[in-house]
Amino acid sequence: MDYVRGQGFPAPAVDEISPDGLDMVIERIEGPDMVAMMEKRPWTFRQLGRSLADLHRHLHDLSAPDWLSEAPVGHGDSLLHLDLHPLNVMIGPRGPVVIDWARACRGDAAVDEAIAWVLMAAGEVPGSRFMAMIVTRARSVLVKSFLTSVEIDAIRPVLRDVVAWKASDPHMSAAEQDRMWEVCKQAGGVTPAWICRGPGHISLRAGVAARLRSGIPVRRTGGRPMRS
Ligand SMILES: Nc1ncnc2c1ncn2[C@@H]1O[C@H](COP(=O)(O)OP(=O)(O)O)[C@@H](O)[C@H]1O
Ligand SMILES: [Mg+2]
Repeated sequence: MDYVRGQGFPAPAVDEISPDGLDMVIERIEGPDMVAMMEKRPWTFRQLGRSLADLHRHLHDLSAPDWLSEAPVGHGDSLLHLDLHPLNVMIGPRGPVVIDWARACRGDAAVDEAIAWVLMAAGEVPGSRFMAMIVTRARSVLVKSFLTSVEIDAIRPVLRDVVAWKASDPHMSAAEQDRMWEVCKQAGGVTPAWICRGPGHISLRAGVAARLRSGIPVRRTGGRPMRS
């Protein structure tokens, strides 16, 4: 955290580290995290997606110090956070501040962005089906705004490896793992289920919902873009 702060990146100051290096006292950021901010001000979804992409870009422009270990997926010299999603961004009085640096490492910037994409698109939505539908829709605005602010063509090639790695994380539920693979499939240009004939309506709804979640633009078969 001190290293990135020294490079001008917004992270909490480290006040104290225990002699064994396992505990530390860090600056408290007064403010909500990005998710709480979105709940309070849903109209900021688009702006927060762009802001998250800016944080990724800013971080990846820094070169990783020698002592950082290699990312579990991909190769490169960028400094990666490996968990840079809205729950790890606090909105403080001076703007966004990134917390939770335990997994920081060196690697390919696209890997960091791919992780953020699949976590945002596939994370569990608690609550009723109705609320889940609304949140899924709002979340697609966030994901889309993030994806239009990063280089999606650089992310696609690493998506499969990232999902394979994330799917082995015991903290991800089976449903979340399925949704991550769905994002991967949709991003790879596989024929979407909603064009298929057959048990039509169900696959149509499932396909559109998956594409909405993944942030990939949805079109009707007639070619007119759907609002999402
Ligand atoms: N510097 C900080 N200032 C204010 N709150 C913080 C700070 N660091 C962590 N928190 C709070 O603690 C929660 C968990 O911290 P985090 O470092 O993200 O650990 P983890 O996600 O691994 O549990 C955050 O969601 C946030 O609410
Ligand atoms: Mg965290």
